[in-house]
Amino acid sequence: MNIAIVGSGYVGLVTGICLSSIGHTVICVDNDEEKIRVLKKGGIPIYEPGLEELMIQQVKKKKLFFSSSIKEASSKSDVIFIAVGTPSKPNGDADLTYVENVAREIALSMTSYKLIVEKSTVPAETGKRIERTIILNLPRKLKNKVTFDVASNPEFLREGSAIKDFMNPDRLVFGVESKKAEKILCEIYKPLKAHIVVTDTNSAEMIKHASNSFLATKISFMNSVSQICDRVGADVLKVAEGMGLDKRIGRSFLNAGIGYGGSCFPKDVDAFIRLSEKSGYDFALLREVRRINEDQRASFLKIIEDKLWIIKNKTIGVLGLAFKANTDDMRNAPSIDIIKALQHEGAKIKAYDPKAMENAKQVFENVTFCADAYSVAKGSDCLLLLTEWAEFKDLDFKRIARLMKQSIVFDGRNLYKDHNLRDLGFEYFGIGRGNLSGK
Ligand code: UDX
Repeated sequence: MNIAIVGSGYVGLVTGICLSSIGHTVICVDNDEEKIRVLKKGGIPIYEPGLEELMIQQVKKKKLFFSSSIKEASSKSDVIFIAVGTPSKPNGDADLTYVENVAREIALSMTSYKLIVEKSTVPAETGKRIERTIILNLPRKLKNKVTFDVASNPEFLREGSAIKDFMNPDRLVFGVESKKAEKILCEIYKPLKAHIVVTDTNSAEMIKHASNSFLATKISFMNSVSQICDRVGADVLKVAEGMGLDKRIGRSFLNAGIGYGGSCFPKDVDAFIRLSEKSGYDFALLREVRRINEDQRASFLKIIEDKLWIIKNKTIGVLGLAFKANTDDMRNAPSIDIIKALQHEGAKIKAYDPKAMENAKQVFENVTFCADAYSVAKGSDCLLLLTEWAEFKDLDFKRIARLMKQSIVFDGRNLYKDHNLRDLGFEYFGIGRGNLSGK
């Protein structure tokens, strides 16, 4: 099938490259001409394990192309995926300006039947609005001559394991309003042999918001449990293990830490709260989920302040900046709030991240970026573990202890659960490990 993907950001690129690898001919489009120039030369603007290699392979096979023209791409395609950004407005609403622009441009260049598929995360009823925008903007000579369908096909890809998630999805959701649209989507994803949920577009849009909000709720629930664990001397890791073995609960997304970040959860929770408000329902539970998430960072800072006493002029070493491991993505990374708050108190920050330092340089001022964890440790009064990169697991802590001014580790991800850093002379503080209660 010939497919255009409009928007070559994270979602668009992963979707485009993966769709081409399962047999389709794909054109990835973006209005950022510089990005398209880089992609055409074989460069890739994001870090995602395995993606660059797959992209190069598909370009060589002549199954993957790049363009800055929606007109060119849509004229060559039967199916157009919309994967442009839907950032948050200050009031939490999803800003759908880019989606509307793309719908308008598709209308202007439509000469034959097209299936238009929303891939971006959008509030319920967006499909209907896209349809209306296309009808309103179709050139007069094409009105009542060309037909089209709008469908919703939300993505559930996690950064860092996006290719694996694409190839082995838990489920595929097709929100459609016609049999024809359903048939085309089934054909596109046929090689994946996944469980398929077919529904209307509004329900498909809701599935995406409800899923991400539910996962965020699981995390905030566990973060609240971690607060109690610290106060009563319980270990949140054992609590998560004991809870997670119940199949109705499941162990995943029960990791307490410094709160969820990234490009999806914070934005989607905000958008779902707003969608509920607008529909006349106050989703108070989700407002609390968001508050708990913010508090989790504040409480981590409080522990640091409590243990270090004076922050001013202390050198604080940070391991990990990305919002989670295996990505270079800094969007809504907990490290941003934490580092900026410590800088505000007068701390000197040294930091290292295996992949996110280039992006982090756009976010922070006055941070000393180091070549590795040992350079971070040198002369530091404490270490903060903010991203759970595998390479931080196996550090030589004896060497680190010799390099540091004071041997204190604040582990924001409970990465060192199996290490006994205390035996090596460290003061060690995890999240919800019961060690703040004095027991
Ligand atoms: C998420 C969804 O998982 C995915 O389905 C959707 O399509 C996009 O949003 P992603 O943002 O890549 O994916 O990351 P995810 O692995 O879900 O983690 C999100 C955030 O939650 C990260 O900041 C992570 O550190 C945090 N998290 C996750 C926890 O704090 N605890 C957990 O137990 C799991």
